[in-house]
Amino acid sequence: MITADQLRAKYLAFFASKGHAVLPSASIIPENDPTVLFTTAGMHPLVPYLLGASHPEGKRLCDVQKCIRTGDIDEVGDASHLTFFEMLGNWSLGDYFKKEAISWSWEFLTSPEYLGLDPDRLAFSVFAGDEHCPRDEESAQIWQSLGVKPERIFYLPKKNNWWGPAGQTGPCGPDTEMFIDTGKAPCGPDCSPACDCGKYLEIWNDVFMQYNKTAEGTFEPLKQKNVDTGMGLERTIGVLQGVKSVYETDLFQPILAEIIRLSGKEYGQDEEVTRSMRIVADHIRTSTFILGDPRGVTPSNVDQGYVLRRLIRRAVRHGMQLGLPENFPSQLARIIIDQYRDVYGELADKADFICQEFDRETQRFERTLKSGLKEFDKAIARLGGSGQIDGQTAFHLYDTFGFPIEMTVELAHEKGLTVDEAGFAEAFRHHQQLSAAGAEQRFKGGLADATEETARLHTATHLLLAGLRHLLGDDIYQRGSNITAERLRFDFNFGRKVTREELDQVQAFVNEAIARDIPVECNEMTLEEARAMGAMGIFDSKYESRVKVYRIGDVSMEICGGPHASHTGELGQFVIQKEESSSAGVRRIKAVLKR
Ligand code: ALA
Repeated sequence: MITADQLRAKYLAFFASKGHAVLPSASIIPENDPTVLFTTAGMHPLVPYLLGASHPEGKRLCDVQKCIRTGDIDEVGDASHLTFFEMLGNWSLGDYFKKEAISWSWEFLTSPEYLGLDPDRLAFSVFAGDEHCPRDEESAQIWQSLGVKPERIFYLPKKNNWWGPAGQTGPCGPDTEMFIDTGKAPCGPDCSPACDCGKYLEIWNDVFMQYNKTAEGTFEPLKQKNVDTGMGLERTIGVLQGVKSVYETDLFQPILAEIIRLSGKEYGQDEEVTRSMRIVADHIRTSTFILGDPRGVTPSNVDQGYVLRRLIRRAVRHGMQLGLPENFPSQLARIIIDQYRDVYGELADKADFICQEFDRETQRFERTLKSGLKEFDKAIARLGGSGQIDGQTAFHLYDTFGFPIEMTVELAHEKGLTVDEAGFAEAFRHHQQLSAAGAEQRFKGGLADATEETARLHTATHLLLAGLRHLLGDDIYQRGSNITAERLRFDFNFGRKVTREELDQVQAFVNEAIARDIPVECNEMTLEEARAMGAMGIFDSKYESRVKVYRIGDVSMEICGGPHASHTGELGQFVIQKEESSSAGVRRIKAVLKR
């Protein structure tokens, strides 16, 4: 039986033998991409190259990419849904196209040296065509020339056989998908890989990227035609190992064995127990990868940090139901870290940090959980055992007791109740509007007043970030910035207090850059070009196709609206006045310029 480790290795070896460079997985947190929170597919980190930038490793690439998709988080616990998965992929950047891509997919799937699957167990789908793109007879012909019987090929519409990026815009195109036919009887005369009756299980997708979807919703032809393929490791290994659920593959055995041991309960007997075990396994695995990512994220109430918080808190609640010991998340994280040691070394490098963050978040949650549950029970008592929990109460549980809304809904369902989720969303939006209004005012106070002083402090802010990254590591990112005529204030992710000695070193770094009187250059370019150049930042959530990139010699390069000083020599003396905690995992520095 093939193991997950073997499948990864075989895949990369096969495509290396076809002239592909093997890339390491990129970060799970996209760099400078405001359209999504997490990397959702192997193609995601490659977007600039799919749009035409030249890749240093050439035109044929392959990798195993860490991915997170949380859209179906509520389905986790059934046989197939996961929030974290690995995606095997190979790419042509304007090099080969349909013929080679399909022939190699066929060879990898059927050759005894690789997966050796029986061609009669395979089925294929191709794009049926619409007003944007013709029917894909070419792909169907190629499959047939390899020996696929016409009745094994299905023509499906855009809904099934078109692939676009997770965000709203980007490269996309028709695809051809490969399925295992489980041998079950068809569910009806129209049974096809498009239905979820369980007869056909998708294992691989070859996307023929020919278009760029614009913000206006139009499809413009790409300068270069690309191939983007994706094979989900967990799902495929489940099919190859012939098990009923992804949780029964070798990938989940170590963590499930530990959950079984710690809980003293059996897996696969009681439905609720099994579901809770799967949720704990999935959520702790995903959280370990988020915490272990080089681009550090810690639990918080916004963005990736909130997803992480939801995952950990949901796991804790299910862990409590299973009777797991209090610090089980960090114990289980150790199992995951060990299991992936050879594939994702970053987890082992950050092992102590990961476990510490799990313990902290678990403790934080446990402190409020009891009072939150009391509050929840009171709300239920008020309802008299039937009906709906109102939006304000749900928001109060979220805001004061840290109950993610999904958890309140889940708890309510267990009692046969519902939650006014629209009401919650309204309370949430109201709260956000208040803080957004505050943020806008801060922004106005910070930047609209484009005096020389704020321009100089703004340039100093870029140097400060460069200095922090230089001293504390490349996983430091801006979390917030505010400038008045007197001082700058800068927030960044970091898990502990920065010592005075370290602050002195950062200060010296900035003052050295000032002493060098480096010119501050500004260039306008597309967001993709800025990304491809490795520019830092983008804290504007709206998608702008052209951005300004401010470059300070070899010290700093950031996407930013400005304004800035024209030379660092104008800045005077940089002095850090204060360092303090801003929120969990986020530090704040206040600094001034003296002349
Ligand atoms: N990007 C394609 C997918 O995720 C291959 O299915």
